[in-house]
Amino acid sequence: MKSSVVSKLTFSTIPVDAGLHAATGMSLEDIVETVRESGLRGRGGGAFSVGRKWEVARGVRSDRKYVICNAAEGEPGSFKDRAILSGYAPLVFEGMTIAALAVGATRGIIYLRAEYAYMLGHLESVLAARRKAGLLGKQVAGNPRFNFDIRIQIGEGAYVCGQETALIEFLEGHRGEPRNRPPYPAVSGYRGAPTVVHNVETWAWVTCVMAKGAKWFHDLGTPKSPGMKLFSVSGDCSRPGVYEFQLGLSVAELLRVVGGEDAQGVQVGGASGRMVPRSQFGRKIAYEDLPYGGAVIILGENRDMLEVAHNYLKFFTSESCGQCTPCREGTRKLLDGVERLRNGRCSSAYLDQLISLGESIQAASKCGLGQSSPQAFLSIVAHYRGKLMGRKLVDDAR
Ligand SMILES: Cc1cc2nc3c(=O)[nH]c(=O)nc-3n(C[C@H](O)[C@H](O)[C@H](O)COP(=O)(O)O)c2cc1C
Ligand code: SF4
Repeated sequence: MKSSVVSKLTFSTIPVDAGLHAATGMSLEDIVETVRESGLRGRGGGAFSVGRKWEVARGVRSDRKYVICNAAEGEPGSFKDRAILSGYAPLVFEGMTIAALAVGATRGIIYLRAEYAYMLGHLESVLAARRKAGLLGKQVAGNPRFNFDIRIQIGEGAYVCGQETALIEFLEGHRGEPRNRPPYPAVSGYRGAPTVVHNVETWAWVTCVMAKGAKWFHDLGTPKSPGMKLFSVSGDCSRPGVYEFQLGLSVAELLRVVGGEDAQGVQVGGASGRMVPRSQFGRKIAYEDLPYGGAVIILGENRDMLEVAHNYLKFFTSESCGQCTPCREGTRKLLDGVERLRNGRCSSAYLDQLISLGESIQAASKCGLGQSSPQAFLSIVAHYRGKLMGRKLVDDAR
């Protein structure tokens, strides 16, 4: 039986409410500037500058503003947000409170994925304790001009609802379908008001940055990818679990720590990420090289890469919201192609057509789901084509 590891996280070293305490002693501009200077980028996958997002939301005049915690954690292979919510929920709520103070929001919402509904009691009790301590509600932290509270809304199981505008649609009571962007939520989000949406992990890092300072965070990681990041590690390794690493570590270093040195490939970024072959294990996990949301899936020597591609495409086919044709029809067609390949009924020329179909889906889809759904397939074909073509193929398969 494999053990599941949770490495010692920085989150456990942050004194209670040190981040909010530091923020209340600053001007609102300085709070935003501190977050911007830290170089913190969103940990939910998009990697947009957190400080920049706050600057935009702060700059829009509105009598209503919102902050939202994206706890959809729908990416197959990701489970680090679950670990944060179970062990460090106060840091998440504190980060949301700091942002609310800085941008002028009065309401916060946590979108909690349906599968995490079992945590509702725990999260509500942390919120209740914060209300009792004067850290939520009216005149937060003794500030007569700052009223802010947080509510939790449970999702209904759709992967696409993790996309920030689909999530907002869902929270408003509509079908969870992505909106056209712009406008971005920081300008016009929940109920048309400026809304700052971040991943669970991002909110917790906000609190750490405020507690320990922008320089502390910025000096870690790489210049383009500052700071630390949590990794959900699963698959063919001896020590799967949740790990914290500085960004910029190589795939090989990660594999050494988690006991996965024999891997033939590593899927970096979950199902919507890409397969990194053994020949590229020297590459760095950082926004400038291998961008990364939260999941690392290790594929051992005996794994059939075509089955991996099939598995992910099947997932995206069923999770497409169906709004746009390239994603709805293209992903299905790609899955058909992989099934032909699997059955030895796909020619090399047809495989080339599938590659250009995948590239078209990426270029023409409306949201990140369609834009990333062919990525695993394309990277598997790029790196393992020889192995795939070792299957019995026919030339007239079309
Ligand atoms: C299909 C799809 C699913 C997504 N699922 C999640 C998710 O489960 N959790 C998350 O934080 N971000 C998810 N995102 C990214 C969000 O759209 C958004 O970028 C993120 O919540 C912003 O937070 P950040 O600034 O902390 O990265 C998803 C994006 C797409 C396209
Ligand atoms: S890309 Fe897919 S999930 Fe996104 S809007 Fe289009 S159909 Fe919906």
